[in-house]
Amino acid sequence: MTNTDQPRRSCLTVPGSSARFLAKARGLAADEVILDLEDAVAPAAKEEARPQVTAAIAATGWAAKVRAVRINGVATQWAYRDVIEIVEGAGTYLDSIVLPKVSDPAHVVWLDLLLHQIERAAGLPPGKIAIEAQIEDASGLATVEAIAAASPRLAALVFGPADFMASLGMRSLRIGAQPAGYTGGDAFHYAHLRILVAARAAGLQAIDGPYAAIGDLEGLARASASVAALGFDGKWVVHPGQIEQVNTAFAPDQASYDRAELIIEAYEHATSARRLGAVTLDGEMIDEASRKMAMVAAARGRAAGLTRMSGRRPDATQSPG
Ligand code: GLV
Ligand code: MG
Repeated sequence: MTNTDQPRRSCLTVPGSSARFLAKARGLAADEVILDLEDAVAPAAKEEARPQVTAAIAATGWAAKVRAVRINGVATQWAYRDVIEIVEGAGTYLDSIVLPKVSDPAHVVWLDLLLHQIERAAGLPPGKIAIEAQIEDASGLATVEAIAAASPRLAALVFGPADFMASLGMRSLRIGAQPAGYTGGDAFHYAHLRILVAARAAGLQAIDGPYAAIGDLEGLARASASVAALGFDGKWVVHPGQIEQVNTAFAPDQASYDRAELIIEAYEHATSARRLGAVTLDGEMIDEASRKMAMVAAARGRAAGLTRMSGRRPDATQSPG
């Protein structure tokens, strides 16, 4: 039981040590809010951030948002207490734990087992709390398929560009932006595609990491549109001003949604009423694979609240091929 089907177009990270930001996040339009105990919280503030985050998760006013907490990585002294305090204190309201710096499937297995123990002790439904694994270094990417299959609780793989750029030695200090001077295309393409393939092979969502230049909405739009076109489900945002742009980039536009519904309807008509498996629709061949692609786009559109505007009847004809 995981929350793989919940929309995660925009995933807003909020420092767990900031009471003001924690209070504000509940009313924003992000699909998911990630209350951070890791890199946005100074070591000296880690322990006092836990009760603040616990109280924020248990507060009212979250609407349908995914409520997540990013704990510290398994190599730190904070990770186990992060899990125990947050889940014992607010497990009923918590949807997901984001596990950073996952470089081995054993990290996910550790969290899965600890969650089982706390769920049992606290009387929570087993498997209630999902895991989102951040892939953000060379070891994590090299073993990403095994990480994706490490627990039935996994709901998503999340790319972490900042740690990843540091791990590889990319010559850039701008999180999520292309390294200046690189002429080989998109410097993140290999990582994105590997994460996407591993996620889909395990039935998980694929989420892109943050774009740190808050004022550069054009750069954010470009980065979001590129991974959305590749197939990613959403992207982290680090500021409320980035939410709308990212929600728009990951929701299908009305014309694509209408087209997807039309393909599904036309293909259903062709296969059941006419017993044809390949037909043309508006001059383009459609077959069972087209239906599958259309099902993905239609599901995303419905999840984003779109309804069909164009009610044209399917007029597919038999394909010559
Ligand atoms: C996010 O955690 C990143 O490292 O980019
Ligand atoms: Mg990171």
